[in-house]
Amino acid sequence: FCGNPNVIGMEEQGFLQASEAVVADTDLLKKKLEAMRLSGLQKLQVIADFDATLTRYWIDGRRGQTSHGLLKQGNPDYDDKREELYKYYHPLEYSPTISIEEKTKLMEEWWGKSHSLLIEGGLTFDAIKQSVASATIAFREGVVELFELLEERDVPVLIFSAGLADIIEEVLRQKLHRSFKNIRIVSNRMVFDDNGCLVSFKGKTIHSLNKNEHALDMAAPLHDQLGDVNGATNDSASVRKRTNVLLLGDHIGDLGMSDGLNYDTRISVGFLNDNIENSLDSYRNAFDIVYLNDASMLGVVKLVHQLFP
Ligand code: TMP
Repeated sequence: FCGNPNVIGMEEQGFLQASEAVVADTDLLKKKLEAMRLSGLQKLQVIADFDATLTRYWIDGRRGQTSHGLLKQGNPDYDDKREELYKYYHPLEYSPTISIEEKTKLMEEWWGKSHSLLIEGGLTFDAIKQSVASATIAFREGVVELFELLEERDVPVLIFSAGLADIIEEVLRQKLHRSFKNIRIVSNRMVFDDNGCLVSFKGKTIHSLNKNEHALDMAAPLHDQLGDVNGATNDSASVRKRTNVLLLGDHIGDLGMSDGLNYDTRISVGFLNDNIENSLDSYRNAFDIVYLNDASMLGVVKLVHQLFP
């Protein structure tokens, strides 16, 4: 924990006791915590990124796979083609020298090509199940506890991802062995035909740089929505009334997930998994709390417990 918790009376804040927690502005955090506590549980919602936020960045010394990365189509030519796209576009995604406009075009291009290859290569739902079963993917310690706690307290959780909704759902099924009635997934959703073959994707593509636009869709009144687009369903009206947001992400761009929600108070938690030396300054200025080194979710579990015992 960076900063002196005693100065502002935060010595009781167990969620900051781990050595890997960093808070740039303890005064501001304290104010936000008070505001959230005062407005109560019924005002709270959680918005979480999936890859490397709910899931671990490292697993047994290997990089954990993403929902895109774990997918094996059962058609090696197409897996290779998607891998080539990854090698070309992934460095561009993180390039500090490309403008945001140019990068957005590149990401649209990447997602477009990748989704087309999944359709062309004849992806089946069976291949998804097998891919997830053999994937290097795991939830952070404490994620199940967090989901259980939020379910018990009727707090909605929105998993918001530029990955693939059907794969995220399969990961939840296989790794958690149970479903949670409070979890909703907004991500790219596949459409399968009667033979279980992928034929198209529903709604607008969500890529890593347009999550903020989709937050607006999600928050729009029902009659403005295009229906069940990318998993956004008819409870958006009740979610809009929950004006306090606990946001979990691993990229500064993830802060855009709450755009359009017109929130009163937002506490943002960033997981800085890698490249800490170069990124810590920007992360600590962007997020209210930063957890370092692929930390567990237990700090967030404590935070919710302390807010709403
Ligand atoms: P997210 O963290 O916003 O969910 O971003 C999804 C990640 O998926 C992003 O960093 C790029 C990656 N990706 C792949 O690995 N393979 C692909 O084919 C595509 C389109 C994206």
